[in-house]
Amino acid sequence: MSELNKIALKILSNGKGILAADESNGTMTKRLDSVNVQSSPENRLLFRETLFSSESMTDCIGGVILYDETINQSSSSGKKIPKLISDTGALTGIKVDTGAKVLANSAEEKITEGLDGLRERLKKYYQLGARFTKWRGVYSISKKYPSQLAINSNAHALARYSALVQECGMVPIVEPEVLMDGEHSADDCLSKTSEVIQKCFEELIVHKIDLTGIILKPNMVLAGNKSKNKISNEEVSLKTLECLKKSVPNEVPGIAFLSGGQSEIEATENLNLINKNNNTNFIMTYSYGRALQQSALKFWSKDIKNIKETQNIFNHRAKMNTLAAQGKWSSELENK
Ligand code: 13P
Repeated sequence: MSELNKIALKILSNGKGILAADESNGTMTKRLDSVNVQSSPENRLLFRETLFSSESMTDCIGGVILYDETINQSSSSGKKIPKLISDTGALTGIKVDTGAKVLANSAEEKITEGLDGLRERLKKYYQLGARFTKWRGVYSISKKYPSQLAINSNAHALARYSALVQECGMVPIVEPEVLMDGEHSADDCLSKTSEVIQKCFEELIVHKIDLTGIILKPNMVLAGNKSKNKISNEEVSLKTLECLKKSVPNEVPGIAFLSGGQSEIEATENLNLINKNNNTNFIMTYSYGRALQQSALKFWSKDIKNIKETQNIFNHRAKMNTLAAQGKWSSELENK
């Protein structure tokens, strides 16, 4: 078993999942604005530190993805944030892309940047304690999109990123996110998501990536948020499994879904059904941002000194998702 494979399994095994707390300062400001909290470095740290010192970290969270600002901060007790995380048994991850920019010659689409100088930045993050990384390619979906240009160029960037990350002894999270915005059907999402993921693996193989040492972070297969033809959670799970079964090589140890704008309960319920119906060898777990933090953030914003209750809310969501990652969740458990 390679070292990279061991890292991936440590993050994903036994129902553990990933806390995606890597919102850029811009995105975090939007999240904090929405609950009327000032977005200062101190407030961003306070909320995140509250989550990272929660009791559920030990049993539920295998890895935390940080943003550059946070990996360089220290907790109120003076502990470096990566140390605070590793003391719970979880591994530290870091977002290393520098964001999605307008794709030249297809102005309505995006290409993710951040390859220049990446090798040097990775060395610095490794020294700070990071053992895995994230890069997100983002694809809009409609009749015309994603274009071949967006599919090819983002896959190429994800592969070059992955090669540099593995060279530095870390596990790359490969995140191709087909957005849920639009009127498209679930079957459109199924075919486009499959095409996107297949192209990613084609490039990862060309770039000689050790597929046992990556984590795939895809979207679930959903109808668009403006679609008139919504499908059931059971159908979401079956279409998601169909997509991954035909698109992901067997060597990949695990898949950690993004929540992508689903509600907290929807994201948990869909993950649970995916695991109940899982007819693959892949570990299927969560790498949620909003679907792990939303309720905790809302509560915290009203009383930022009430650490304990904020943690209780986060602990509950983490536990529910860890049950879902084993197919053991039920809606009755939500109210206990
Ligand atoms: P959401 O779960 O809020 O979609 O965030 C996951 C993530 O890391 C997006 O890049």
